[in-house]
Amino acid sequence: MATILDGKSLSIKIKEQVKNDTKILTENTKIQPHLVVVLIGENPASASYVRGKEKSCINAGIKSTVIRKDESILQEELELIIKELNEDKSVHGILLQLPIPKHLDSEKVISMISPLKDVDGFTPSNVALLANGNPKLVPCTPLGIMRLLEHYQIKIQGKHCVVLGRSQIVGKPIASLLLLANGTVTICHSKTENIKQITKQADILVVAIGKPKWVDDTFIKDGATVIDVGISRVDDVIVGDVNYEKARQIAGFITPVPGGVGPMTIACLLENTLACYKYLEGVSK
Ligand SMILES: NC(=O)c1ccc[n+]([C@@H]2O[C@H](COP(=O)([O-])OP(=O)(O)OC[C@H]3O[C@@H](n4cnc5c(N)ncnc54)[C@H](OP(=O)(O)O)[C@@H]3O)[C@@H](O)[C@H]2O)c1
Repeated sequence: MATILDGKSLSIKIKEQVKNDTKILTENTKIQPHLVVVLIGENPASASYVRGKEKSCINAGIKSTVIRKDESILQEELELIIKELNEDKSVHGILLQLPIPKHLDSEKVISMISPLKDVDGFTPSNVALLANGNPKLVPCTPLGIMRLLEHYQIKIQGKHCVVLGRSQIVGKPIASLLLLANGTVTICHSKTENIKQITKQADILVVAIGKPKWVDDTFIKDGATVIDVGISRVDDVIVGDVNYEKARQIAGFITPVPGGVGPMTIACLLENTLACYKYLEGVSK
């Protein structure tokens, strides 16, 4: 039976650390770290994620502002908001909650966020730095996964790491981080043939496809580490992309959903916000 990679308790420790660091830093500077989230429209999942981020910021002593806009907002209005936040010296982190309505050009808006305030690590320059092996601000979910692997001392060097999914926010950046940690990385996607043959070779299997319980024990090598990034609501229950009950019979380590990668994402958002604050205010602890 697999050992559980407990993202919930690790995230609590990280959040405590951020809280302590924030306290010490703000005592010296008298300036509070400040994260601004831009939320467009009424998507209930997005609204719930934003509430979670807001609560975690406040608990850590980070000022949180949510700019809520109607989904009829025009591209120019949104660009102006980003421009003003870039220029506002009291703002250290900017997060555009995705997805945004289809009539808006999300790529363009993201590219306008100052790379120094890019707590999500999605701007072209931060993406390029990671791809070039010199990461600065890294997307929070992949960062959270790396922190979990590190905490549980799961060896990456020389290991076959298979990533299911090639999204900009999870699949590609986690593949880059695993490669940077000297893993041998294979990325699979919806057009990959013979997927089970590949996943069966994985020492570390990261699943980020958005298909509830799609990966079961027949995809997994004996003793492998399984990281389930998926979050789907099925019959009012939150489930991952991995069939947890089946997978835990064969895996060596596994993340639960909820309580695995999700809480680590928020903890890493706080860390990224504090990193932006330190850089922009020219302080260190
Ligand atoms: N825990 C967290 O904090 C967190 C953070 C972000 C996302 N998530 C969750 O993670 C999941 C993935 O999110 P995402 O934004 O990365 O998704 P996404 O943008 O929809 O990308 C899904 C990826 O999975 C691939 N894919 C789909 N079906 C597949 C299959 N049967 N076999 C292999 N690959 C397949 C797609 O391939 P193609 O490129 O060929 O279409 C695509 O690359 C979602 O459930 C999301 O809610 C969780």
